[in-house]
Formats: sequence, C-alpha cells, structure tokens
Amino acid sequence: MSFSFKDLRPVDGPNSNGHEFAVAVEKGLSGKPKRLPSWLIFDDRGSEIFQEIVRLETYLPAVSEIEIIHTHQRFIADLIISQKALQIIDLGSGDGSKSMVLLEHLIQKNQRIHFMPIDISAGAVKNLVATLRSKFKNTSLTVTGIASEYFQGLSAISRGQFERNFVFYFGVTIGNQDYSSAGKFLRKLWGALNDGDFVMIGFDLMKNPKLLYRAYNDAGGVFQKFNLNLLDCINQKLGANFVKQNFIQEAHYNEQSRAVESYIYSIEEQTVQIAALNREFHFQAWEAMQTEFSYKCTMPEIEALAQNNGFQIVEHLLDSKKFFVDAIWQVKK
Ligand SMILES: C[S@@+](CC[C@H](N)C(=O)[O-])C[C@H]1O[C@@H](n2cnc3c(N)ncnc32)[C@H](O)[C@@H]1O
Repeated sequence: MSFSFKDLRPVDGPNSNGHEFAVAVEKGLSGKPKRLPSWLIFDDRGSEIFQEIVRLETYLPAVSEIEIIHTHQRFIADLIISQKALQIIDLGSGDGSKSMVLLEHLIQKNQRIHFMPIDISAGAVKNLVATLRSKFKNTSLTVTGIASEYFQGLSAISRGQFERNFVFYFGVTIGNQDYSSAGKFLRKLWGALNDGDFVMIGFDLMKNPKLLYRAYNDAGGVFQKFNLNLLDCINQKLGANFVKQNFIQEAHYNEQSRAVESYIYSIEEQTVQIAALNREFHFQAWEAMQTEFSYKCTMPEIEALAQNNGFQIVEHLLDSKKFFVDAIWQVKK
C-alpha cells in the first residue's frame, strides 16, 4: 500500500510569504479595534502548538471529543464499514491522532481504506503521512496526504470510484466561524460531496463560562504561545519587529457574539515596523488585538445546520458530561 504526499498550496496561501497574508495583516492592524483573522494562526508552527493544546487537561473540546471517539469507535466503524474500498477524508487533520483511533479499528477489520488528510500546514501533513507509514505499513491502508486549503484539496481528489466517502472534521474547527458562516461552509461541503457520503463534525456546546475561561487560559501558557506565534509569523513573513515579550494573551466568553474571543494585549505603548508593508503600527498601553474566535452552540442550532444545508442526521454522539457533540450526517441530494 502506498503512502504519498502532495503539496497543492498556491504560492500565495496562508503558509507562504504571499500577498494574501500581507493584505490580511495590513487590513487587520489598520482596523479599530485591531484584529488578526484566525486563519493566520495556522502556519506549521501554529499547527504544532495546537497539538500541545489538544493534550491539555483543561482544554475540554479535545478531552470531550477524544472521549467520544474512544467510546463510540465500534459504532462509527460499523456505520462506515463497506464491502468495497472506503475513502476517508480528514479536513484540517493536524496530527491525525483522533482519526488514527478509528483507522486502527477499521484496519483490524481488514477494511480497505484510502485515507486523505487535508491540511493547510504542510509540516503537519508530512508528519502524519510518516507516522501512518511507520504504524500501518503492511496493512489495508493507502494514504495520500494533501497540503492545501480544504476545498482545493477536496476538488483535487476523485470521489467517484469509492462506494463510500466519509469526511472527518474534528477539533471544533467549524467553531472558528460564526453560525451563518458555518452554514455557508456546510453548504459548500455538501456541494463537494456525493449523495450518500457521510460527514462527522465536532461542535463544542455552550457550557459554564467559568469552564470556558479555564479551557482557553491554561496555567502553562500554551494558549498564549499559540496566539503569540502569530507575531513570530508576521516577523518572519513580513520583516516585522514585534517583540513577543511585550504582549500577553487572554480569552473570555462574550455572550453577545456567543464565542470565546482571544485577545493579544500590548503591555506598553509601542510602535511596530513592518518592512514588507513599509508601514508602522502604533499600540497604546493595554490596547487589545483580537485573534481567535471559538463559537459555542446548542443542540437545536446544530440540528438546524444539518437540516438547512442538505444533510440527514444519522447520530449525534455526546461525551459523558454533554460538553461536546460529534455529529454524523449523511449527504442527501
Ligand atoms: C483546530 S485544528 C484541528 C486539528 C485536528 N483535526 C484535531 O482535531 O486535533 C485545525 C487544523 O485545521 C488546519 N486548517 C485551518 N484552516 C485550514 C484551511 N482553510 N484549510 C485546510 N486546513 C486548515 C490547521 O492547520 C489545523 O491543523
């Protein structure tokens, strides 16, 4: 079985030094309040730090989703098992550790699988392909890792020859967009899939805001490292002179936006030069710059997302504390 890697990213993508990145930074730092969109956060290093976040005991979205996958692996495997080869597409795969639990279960049943992790971080995809090669070399698994944006990756792969395509979208990545954008994303995903294909998507449910606070403000400062990595990224890609020690991160739930919002605060008045933009940006002491959003939702909202975007609900798998749901839906055309 083969283990391969394709890099489909345009020269101008989030992981490049390109125009798109520069435009987003300039627009974000020129706004009031300053804001850096969350897609900038996932360069190779950002994706690596996210893997540290997933291991935090306080980061409930990962703790809950890992519990769901371990508890229900047999149910999920029975649902997707097929006589013919099965294609599993992992959107925003990261280190693929959640998918690997399910792959292992299916491989033990001798299921022929073509696994296609798609992630904008080429480093994450390459590492995942190497890990899968060493773990599952002489088994029923074939792997094609794709470094690309989700829909570019999806449009580059052939879905016709497989009896069943199953898309994983773990890690509450859908929660980085507000409810209406999540709906548009799901409609686009529906359009990219065949009738009868399945999706499994992680949603973080609204819970006690004190738990949300703890989840996004860990004592060891991993979330701070994750957010401040953005400044390193801008330094490297655009020749800026951000000094990370002059900034701190904090996140809190905002009941108006219904998201945990992350901010980077400038601890003193300072000016930062960005050579590639030929501009400087001034920060007041304690001025906040918005970075990541993580939207929280309710079960009725999740059900409506399925119904309004062409999916039939197959199962909603919850963890024991009912903090998180992995939604399994089928594409209906
Ligand atoms: C929140 S992490 C989830 C990782 C993993 N699925 C998990 O559950 O631990 C999101 C992942 O999506 C990737 N990503 C973010 N935006 C993307 C995009 N537009 N296209 C492809 N991958 C993207 C990031 O590089 C990152 O690895």
